[in-house]
Amino acid sequence: MTAAPGLRLEVLPEGQWAETVAQALLERLVANPRLRLCLPTGDTPTPVYARLAVLDRAGRPGAWAQATAVLLDEWVGLPAGDPARCDRRITQDLLDGLAPPPRFIPIEVDGDDPEAAAARHDVAATGLDLGVLGLGMNGHIGFNEPGSRPDDPTRLVRLAVSSRDAATARYGAARTPTAGITIGVARLLEAHEVWLLVTGERKASILRRALREPEGPDCPASYLLRHRRLTVFADEAAAATL
Ligand code: GLP
Repeated sequence: MTAAPGLRLEVLPEGQWAETVAQALLERLVANPRLRLCLPTGDTPTPVYARLAVLDRAGRPGAWAQATAVLLDEWVGLPAGDPARCDRRITQDLLDGLAPPPRFIPIEVDGDDPEAAAARHDVAATGLDLGVLGLGMNGHIGFNEPGSRPDDPTRLVRLAVSSRDAATARYGAARTPTAGITIGVARLLEAHEVWLLVTGERKASILRRALREPEGPDCPASYLLRHRRLTVFADEAAAATL
């Protein structure tokens, strides 16, 4: 068992998971309407985003009006508007459902200098109030693939084969990106608070690796245990072997 004084583990029944995370996010927005947070894409947060849109329509109008949402990561090499693009997916899954949406900061991957785009996004990712993350099957957070280090800034990265395969399986893209830009582990550890969202039996063993074994570059998510305010929102299936 790894000592992790900053870890709060919330294990929730599958049917309550998305609602609980959505309500927790709204609580943060009420406490700080100017919340600056980074948000992931992927299947894990999608039900949370759907719930947030429902709550936005039913609750206080304008809850997100002063907030800023910074995109966690993006593929490099997909054209603007491609359905696999993270900026397009988060627009569909979340931003289009909020009235008005938060200010959104995508990753500007369409120019010819991705390194410069990454450097600009590093500035956007500095001083986050909340870093919201998913967990990759290989232990990645954002596109901080195995081999990443705790002092890594936001940067251009080569994608792990498993990440590329996941993209191909999900989108059937004839052309799967080989690179991405991700907010770096260093910026995530600097955020005031970090949430790791994990659901499903298939994530159980990598979640156990991340939380219950010593930190190491084979599992970048394991570095999150350094954080003083880390909350892991796991459903019962993902937490089954903790
Ligand atoms: C993707 C993204 C991550 C995401 C993770 C898990 O490749 N780069 O930001 O959190 O993998 O995705 P999913 O929630 O679909 O399992």
